Amino acid sequence: MDSKWIWWKHGVIYQIYPRSFYDSNGDGIGDIPGIIEKLDYLKDLGIDAIWLSPVNTSPMHDFGYDISNYRDIDEIFGSKKDFRELIKEAHLRDIKIIMDMVVNHTSHMHQWFIESRSSLDNPKRDWYIWRDGKNGKPPNNWIAAFGGSSWEKYAHTGQYYLHSFVKEQPDVNWRNKELREAMYNEMRYWLDRGVDGFRLDVVNWFMKDENFRNNTLSLRPQQLQKHRYDRNRPESHEIMKEIRQVVDSYKDRMLVGEVFSLPPGDPKLSASYIGDGTDELHMAFDFSMIYKRWNARTVYRTIARWMEIIPENGWPCHVLSNHDQPRSISRFGGGSDAIKRARVAATLLLTLKGTPFIYYGEEIGMRNISISRKDIQDPLGKRYWPLYTGRDPARAPMQWSSEENAGFTRGTVWLPVHRNYRRVNVETDAADKYSMLNHYKSLIRIRKKKKALHMGDWTPLIKGVDSIIAYTRECEEQKIFVVLNFSNGVRKLTLNDRGQWRVISSTHKFVNEHFTDIDFKVMPYEATIVQRIGAL
Ligand code: NOJ
Repeated sequence: MDSKWIWWKHGVIYQIYPRSFYDSNGDGIGDIPGIIEKLDYLKDLGIDAIWLSPVNTSPMHDFGYDISNYRDIDEIFGSKKDFRELIKEAHLRDIKIIMDMVVNHTSHMHQWFIESRSSLDNPKRDWYIWRDGKNGKPPNNWIAAFGGSSWEKYAHTGQYYLHSFVKEQPDVNWRNKELREAMYNEMRYWLDRGVDGFRLDVVNWFMKDENFRNNTLSLRPQQLQKHRYDRNRPESHEIMKEIRQVVDSYKDRMLVGEVFSLPPGDPKLSASYIGDGTDELHMAFDFSMIYKRWNARTVYRTIARWMEIIPENGWPCHVLSNHDQPRSISRFGGGSDAIKRARVAATLLLTLKGTPFIYYGEEIGMRNISISRKDIQDPLGKRYWPLYTGRDPARAPMQWSSEENAGFTRGTVWLPVHRNYRRVNVETDAADKYSMLNHYKSLIRIRKKKKALHMGDWTPLIKGVDSIIAYTRECEEQKIFVVLNFSNGVRKLTLNDRGQWRVISSTHKFVNEHFTDIDFKVMPYEATIVQRIGAL
């Protein structure tokens, strides 16, 4: 076991969706100077790194996940100078900056694509994926994640280009060596400027079948076809290894990758992108937890499966929400118990072995907004409304205060603020000792202070039986015990582990309360952390 602090393993990472964090110039959209203004808030929350969803130049067909210039910052978010300032100010506070690298595709407005599409023999033609159609139809049957064929015909040359998402996001050709090198240079550009790492978008989609074979149909819900040939190609691992080498040639940088698979998630696939733990990504997301219902057994099994499959030298990370999925508090349900469930979930996230990722606003219990057709911004929502309202509900402006627009902007908000903002906001929470925000803060502080919590082994003791999950976290000199009650009923806990135990955090018990045995009542939705005192 590493016994020295490694920021990306032992720290806590906070995801910011920049459009919605804080608007400093009154245009209704969050920006980089806005993030700088809120760095002290983040420092006080206790996080160690920020993952910024894309801030590069973009025509915003997918809100920044369609980059037209990797080396520049979109003026909606600020300037390169603002970004430099953000790195400097964050580093002064010991906060790292992780950029989103979206390199499965670029924007159709990227100079590379403009060149590539200009003629059949353009030197950058092969930087993207161009094929002839078949009998007036697309080259094969692949379907895009955002609906329709993955192929778009470009009249000028008559060939089709591949786009795994919307047609304004052409996929690059990772089989082309020049393209690869060009992408690595875009990464080096930011690493040279002090960025501490990258979150890589859809890493398991980089490579496509060399022969462009048709996918077969799928009978699974939410899946029209088995994406055997357009996703999850084994050759993608080669690319991971190369990117790892680029990043490892700098000191102390990190790669976390999105391994996108449809519900129910795919821990085995996700873990495969960590390679042997040292040669591909430092960490990979698995979204299994995001797709699960509130049920202790299900949650336990999901975590256990994820932990078991992480390679020996690898490191897990955990996530409850992100900008693509409904917010956890809204997903977990529970009606008037929702906030209690969210506290249990927070305790779980921050006491597991593995790096916790917090999605902005989760720390104050922000919920999904409900959205009407006219307010929808997300291309997915526009396409599938009213069947699916898209991803906007989880991307609403951060609720800073009870002022108009939740204190997010003095202009007109780009997405509606949640109706509950007068009650649920940072200012109100900060003043309430028992608020969600203070729950998060105290958990982060404890996680940092206790080596067992940020480095120790994880040993499950109660595996979801009777709605309880309980485990220990342990390293040489420390033993910590965590119990989580997923139900609204009282439970009796008897573990016969004699010794002196002291409560260090609890939704119900008094901090510093002592026990001589783990033998106590667990109240509805209780989340308690106790530490063993004295020698083990
Ligand atoms: C995954 C990102 O998280 C999502 O927001 C985006 O739309 C797609 N990749 C395409 O880049």
